[in-house]
Amino acid sequence: MLVSATEMLQKAKAGHYAVGQFNINNIEWTKAILTTAQEMNSPVILGVSEGAGKYMGGYDAVVGMVKGMIKGLNITVPVAIHLDHGSYDHCYKCMEAGFSSIMFDGSHYPIEENVAKTKELVEAAHKLGISIEAEVGSIGGEEDGVVGAGECADPMECKAIADLGVDFLAAGIGNIHGKYPANWKGLSFETLAAVQEQTGDLPLVLHGGTGIPADMIKKAISLGVAKINVNTECQLSFAAAVRKYIEEGKDLQGKGFDPRKLLAPGTEAIKATVKEKMELFGSVNKA
Ligand code: 13P
Repeated sequence: MLVSATEMLQKAKAGHYAVGQFNINNIEWTKAILTTAQEMNSPVILGVSEGAGKYMGGYDAVVGMVKGMIKGLNITVPVAIHLDHGSYDHCYKCMEAGFSSIMFDGSHYPIEENVAKTKELVEAAHKLGISIEAEVGSIGGEEDGVVGAGECADPMECKAIADLGVDFLAAGIGNIHGKYPANWKGLSFETLAAVQEQTGDLPLVLHGGTGIPADMIKKAISLGVAKINVNTECQLSFAAAVRKYIEEGKDLQGKGFDPRKLLAPGTEAIKATVKEKMELFGSVNKA
C-alpha cells in the first residue's frame, strides 16, 4: 500500500520505535526490501537519491516499478517512496512523478533561505497529500556527490524549520553517511535531546544508519528518532554475497551466469540486513 510517511512516523514516535528508510538502486533492492517488510509486517520507506533516480531511468520509472511490485507481490504493509536529500527542483519533479514523500535538503543554504524554500515546498507537498522531511545541520560524509562535514544542528534553527509544518526533521547530531571512521566521536545525544525539546512530537530522522552501534540506535530512538536511514550497509552485504558467489566459481557452473541466479545471493543478503534493522528499530509487526 503506497502511503505518505506522515502517519507511520507519528505512530513510530508515539510508540517509541523507528521505521527504516532503505535506499533502493534497482529491481533486486526494491524487491528485497518490499518482501522483507511484508514478511516482518513492518512499515517501510524506500529512499531514492537523485543519483539513484537517474540510474533507474528517472522518477517515473521508479514510481512505476514500486507501484507495480506493490501490486504484483501483494504488498499490504504501508510503503512510502521518498526522495532522499532532494534539491528544490527535484522535489517538484518527484511530486509530479507520484512520490508519496520528499526530503528537501536545504541544509547547505543560509538558514533564512532554507526556511523560505522549505516553507514553499511544505505547502506544495501538503496540497498533494505528500509528506516532507527537511534538514538542519548537514550530515557528514559523501552521498551522490553531496558532501557534508557532520555538523551538530542548532536546536533553535530546528524549531524554525519544524514550525513550518514539515512532517519530520533530519537534524545533524554528528552522524555521517557511509562507514564511520575509527576516530568517530559518536552521536551527540546532548544535541538530540535539545532538538527534541524544541520540536516536541515531531518525528526526528537519523541519517547515516550504517555502522551506528545498537545501543546508540536505541538511545536515539528513546530521544525522539522515529526514522532511520540505511543505505551503505545493504550495499556492503549485497557486494559481499555476490563476490562470494563469483569467487566460488558458481557463475561458471551450469547456468550460474543467469543474472537471476548471479544476483540472488545479493538479494538474500539485503533481505537479511533489512530484517536485522527492522528488529533493531522495533518496527516489526507495526504495519
Ligand atoms: P548510510 O549510507 O550511512 O547508511 O546513510 C544512509 C542515509 O542517510 C541516506 O540518506
